Amino acid sequence: MKEIYLAGGCFWGAEHYFRNIEGVVDTEVGFANGDTPSPTYEQVYTDTTGYAETVRVIYNPDALPLDELLRDFFCAIDPLSVNKQGEDEGTRYRTGVYYSDPEDLAVARKVFDEVRESFGEPLAVELEPLRNFYQADGRHQDYLVKNPDGYCHLPLKIFRYPRLVSDLKHLLGDEPDFVARLSNTAALLKEKMGFFWTGFYLVGEADQSGTSGGHGHGGASADGKELILGPFQGSVACMRIGYGRGVCGTAWKEAHTVVVPDVEEFPGHIACSSLSKSEIVVPVFRGGEVIGVLDIDSDEVSTFDRVDAFWLERVVNVVRFPGDTM
Ligand code: SME
Repeated sequence: MKEIYLAGGCFWGAEHYFRNIEGVVDTEVGFANGDTPSPTYEQVYTDTTGYAETVRVIYNPDALPLDELLRDFFCAIDPLSVNKQGEDEGTRYRTGVYYSDPEDLAVARKVFDEVRESFGEPLAVELEPLRNFYQADGRHQDYLVKNPDGYCHLPLKIFRYPRLVSDLKHLLGDEPDFVARLSNTAALLKEKMGFFWTGFYLVGEADQSGTSGGHGHGGASADGKELILGPFQGSVACMRIGYGRGVCGTAWKEAHTVVVPDVEEFPGHIACSSLSKSEIVVPVFRGGEVIGVLDIDSDEVSTFDRVDAFWLERVVNVVRFPGDTM
């Protein structure tokens, strides 16, 4: 087992998030890298002790490598925000990664570089050796388990996704049939996350007969290929989508996740249902090629953000054939 100390804003929500991640063995909340010895919660709350609210995460590195755990951590914080996470403000809510094993520094640096590059801005997250850590009193341990309706600065979905990914891994196991894998993934996403429409489109031979042209949104093809409706849950949907067309065709062409907060504002959006208000599309890769997309629709605007993008990319990684490469 290994340990790492992660400061991610209010430790009630942060601990609840980490304890749901597969490979995390135990968690403990407390105060790290401050000045006064044995601080109480009340002292730290005055914001004069130099401590950061921190979660000690004990994890199994064989099941959860440190780089993966740190990426999960970054998903749950705003890494650009200084001394503020959600509505919580103060130096005690600063973000940081504090390591007790100096060998972890290189791995952490790699992930920090990756995140800095993706944001294109310097990060406000500390990366330092652990100087000290004092456990918070019992009231604060597993706070959201004891107080399920208690205050939390994180969105509810962030607790559901890690459980969903771990359920999905067990559900799909080594099932070799791709359609079976896709079908149960669409169903699990609908059931556990309550999304309006969940499903897959797969790259296949374009319809040359011209008969689907009127109903579908095909036509634009990449080497005679287009997206064809695959396993899904929800109301009837368009069956064919051309390369670069709509949100799905765009995610295929650009080979990255596309988040659309308001479908009315996305040029070329294909309205399969007038009830769909926002959407996220995640490409599915095999051998470096996009072989399909996961499409999720919401009947509310602004449902999806970087948290959904991050965890749905994990979902797509699970659904691919076992042993498949990107
Ligand atoms: N809106 C998608 C089409 C698929 S439906 O949402 C199920 C798009 O613009 O590609």
